[in-house]
Amino acid sequence: MRTMRAPGSVVQSSTDQAGEMSKSHDPWQDAMDHAVAVARKSGEIIREAVQNQDRSSLVQTKSSAVDLVTETDQKVEQLIIQSVKSKFPSHRFIGEESVSSGELCVLTSDPTWIIDPIDGTTNFVHGYPFVGVCIGFAVNQQVEWGVVYSAIEDKMFTARRGRGAFCNGRPLQVSPQTDVHRALVATEFGSSRDPQVVDKIFSSLRKVLSLPVHGVRGAGSAALNMCAVALGSVELYYETGIHIWDFAAASVIVTEAGGVLRDTTGGAVDLMSRRVVAANNETIATRIISELDVYSPERDDGAPHGAPHGAPHAPHGAPHGAPE
Ligand code: IPD
Repeated sequence: MRTMRAPGSVVQSSTDQAGEMSKSHDPWQDAMDHAVAVARKSGEIIREAVQNQDRSSLVQTKSSAVDLVTETDQKVEQLIIQSVKSKFPSHRFIGEESVSSGELCVLTSDPTWIIDPIDGTTNFVHGYPFVGVCIGFAVNQQVEWGVVYSAIEDKMFTARRGRGAFCNGRPLQVSPQTDVHRALVATEFGSSRDPQVVDKIFSSLRKVLSLPVHGVRGAGSAALNMCAVALGSVELYYETGIHIWDFAAASVIVTEAGGVLRDTTGGAVDLMSRRVVAANNETIATRIISELDVYSPERDDGAPHGAPHGAPHAPHGAPHGAPE
């Protein structure tokens, strides 16, 4: 078992604004501790909105009639971005609501905060109690740490690359199960209602269910499904159609809990490809991937699927062409 202090406990050192890289003994810990604090604050806002029943205030739609955004999503994203900008002015951002408002989704090698203010907005709107504040941090296009705060459950999931994964300070470990017939699998239906996409979703689901597996679940939050893999509660989660902000933070929580990440093609996961498989081990991952129908929504960075795009993860060359 790797050892690491849980973020939010003792901070090694603070850093100055211009030289966070060069002067800190531990360059990114200050940023991670800040993320934990601002995720908690965001959780307070979310809980307050749920308690005051104003969670459905100004619900608008984005890419489809069921892709929702609320005033609370926007308020929380602004809170996170403003607080980070004042402490780390040179850092960059990819935020769900900022991208929806027209900002480019570009992951450079600069330190970049990848933010989903409410992962599980549909749950939030309906008062279904699984919503995650997701903050990931990438440098050189690699996720260094991730924070996912399950606001209603008050569970703080954290992981830093090479230093383990935690929930409320308790170390996480994936399930040891290798028999797919004893696996619990999580997935989501996503927010596309294009009939061709829905057909792909159901055809994969039918094959996975009839393996058979013990069952199929879905929390309504990509990040919390991935945290369930890290907790050892489910063996695998897969989805096509998610975005970089839905799973960047949780990706390192899965790997630091001992799990593996794959593209639905079986290749290396690509943060921009909108496809992910997060599993407890290679055996379960490979078995479930062989049942999945691969399709390729438009990438988050707009690059063609299979073409070189300068992203961190190798192009996967998967079949594509299905509508989003
Ligand atoms: C969504 C949730 C949902 C998943 C979608 C995501 P949002 O995120 O994670 O479970 O199926 O693909 O986009 O819109 O609530 O942040």
